[in-house]
Amino acid sequence: MRAKLLIFLGLMIAASTAVQAAGDPAKGRLKAETCLGCHGIPGYRYSSYPTYHVPKVAGQHEAYIASALQSYKAGERDNPTMHAQAQTLSDEDIQDIAAFFAQAGMSR
Ligand code: HEC
Repeated sequence: MRAKLLIFLGLMIAASTAVQAAGDPAKGRLKAETCLGCHGIPGYRYSSYPTYHVPKVAGQHEAYIASALQSYKAGERDNPTMHAQAQTLSDEDIQDIAAFFAQAGMSR
């Protein structure tokens, strides 16, 4: 019982480091240029688009951001704006951008 739990925990840790290592935040910074027009990061020169509500992406979990973008891309999350944005992104773009936004929130 205990051994199984340890193996399970080990796999979880291995899986989470794999996700962490997947994206390149430096590349993501460049690819996220458009995104910052709406999802502003405090301290960057962009501010959030003022006229309607935009969720804060900076500092969210990398895996969460990536899966949200995949869902918009696939149309599982129904939002015309984000569907249009996510459609232009490859899987690699999504990983890099997710890594950038996750890190952008932490470094402050
Ligand atoms: C024109 C403004 C605009 C642009 C540009 C934009 N977004 Fe969004 N984004 C939104 C809005 C509005 C929502 C909320 C949509 C909803 O209700 O599902 C959103 C939602 C999201 C979410 C889900 C957040 C959550 O908490 O669930 C993520 C992740 C995200 N955007 C990432 C990005 C990325 C990455 C880019 C650049 C490729 C980008 N967005 C570009 C307006 C924008």
